[in-house]
Amino acid sequence: SQPHAADLIVFGGTGDLAMRKLLPALFHSDLDGMLADETRVIALSRGGLDDADYRGKVDAEVRLAGAVPDEDPAAWERFRARLHHVTVDVGSGEPLGGELGALLAGHEDRARVFYLASPPMTFGPFCRAIQEAGLVTPASRVVLEKPLGKDLASAQRINDEVGAIFDENQIFRIDHYLGKETVQNLLVLRFANTFLEPIWNSRWIDHVQITAAETVGTAGRRGYYDGSGALRDMVQNHLLQLLCLTAMEPPLRNDREAVRDEKVKVLRALRPLTGGDVALHTVRGQYAAGVSGGAEVPGYLDEPGSTPPTDKSREVETYAAIEARVENWRWAGVPFYLRTGKRLASRRTEIVVQFKDVPHSIFPGGAPNRLVIRLQPSEGIHMHLVAKEPGSGELRLRPVALSLSFADTFETRVPEAYERLLMDVLAGNPTLFMRRDEVESAWRWIDPILSAWEGTIPEPYVAGGTGPAAADELIGRGGRTWHEEG
Ligand code: BG6
Repeated sequence: SQPHAADLIVFGGTGDLAMRKLLPALFHSDLDGMLADETRVIALSRGGLDDADYRGKVDAEVRLAGAVPDEDPAAWERFRARLHHVTVDVGSGEPLGGELGALLAGHEDRARVFYLASPPMTFGPFCRAIQEAGLVTPASRVVLEKPLGKDLASAQRINDEVGAIFDENQIFRIDHYLGKETVQNLLVLRFANTFLEPIWNSRWIDHVQITAAETVGTAGRRGYYDGSGALRDMVQNHLLQLLCLTAMEPPLRNDREAVRDEKVKVLRALRPLTGGDVALHTVRGQYAAGVSGGAEVPGYLDEPGSTPPTDKSREVETYAAIEARVENWRWAGVPFYLRTGKRLASRRTEIVVQFKDVPHSIFPGGAPNRLVIRLQPSEGIHMHLVAKEPGSGELRLRPVALSLSFADTFETRVPEAYERLLMDVLAGNPTLFMRRDEVESAWRWIDPILSAWEGTIPEPYVAGGTGPAAADELIGRGGRTWHEEG
């Protein structure tokens, strides 16, 4: 079927997210024929640009980010003709009507998407400005970028403010990890195959590790990061979402409410970590100077940024590890180890499910089975088994992997997370977006950890290394080790 015409209005249209993620994703969707001819992107900023200036700026910046393929210049020109710019300072209370209203008038039947690529405290005021300008139509949707608040109270306030103007089914709270191909594949792996489900529980699984390791530092983002830290930036959303999809019960159907209902149940089943338990089951670290990608790199406090480091900067974690428990029948007694950090040795995001050892070993040198679901850098699923080395001499066992690489198997381009998610917004499908109760349940679990951490100093770790030693001790206490091999 033909795609329907839509207007996408981007608040923060000249910002980093628009240039690095949104516009490249839209361009690729356009190349795949998924945008109607009339679909427009209307960028809002204070910048004083006209359409031609904005198209020039996008050309320069998106090219700089390496997101424009050179092979089809005509398609890029056609895409750029969809771009418009409206100068308005919504933040300082300037009304939205005027130029934007004129552009949208007469197009009330189109899907109208307000994309708030702006800080969370602007969500409520911007939605009010949209309403006061009379721009909300039945086919309107609003997209909220993470982080949704900085704790439970602020998230509830934002949800109330936005919810006073848009219905829940018009609100799309983005967690871009849910748009990643392997994350969606996790559901297919679990629920379109039979062999895993009987062993996907505490009888057969020893523990689960969820890792999101990055090689990059925080670079020029200290202003944002000082107020955030790894727990808010990565764990509250991305890592908990991966945990939910790994631990959830089979949903009744593959639809928006059924899938999200099951995810919320997992969040509600998380054992609260409070007071002394926090010190016992969590680790926080901050990178110090080191070597990354062959070059010397500064520590977090010495990252060149717009502002000098403050006491707050000293207290911010760039690494977090947590031993979490899901308290229900399926997972009783199974630790879920979560860890994420900046400036680590390699970029690797994966879910590792380690099965229990054989109940009675008749061979020397075995190792428990591990299922590795790799999100990045190379998407794939790897089942680590033990096999016999060929030969007629002494019996030798060796761990080997049965590997499914998506790139080799499907020989097709794996779309970026934002492509999938933006097309879902245009189609009005919120399955891969966070429902209000999901976001709030996640904060409810995070809040006590944040307060127990308040005023504590994270353990330093060398940039380019494997993270704080305390994280090895955390997992080591259960006689376990982090999955490190490639
Ligand atoms: C973002 C965080 O949500 O996710 C960043 O704000 C982080 O700090 C990024 O670098 C990681 O995303 P990805 O897709 O590169 O794993």
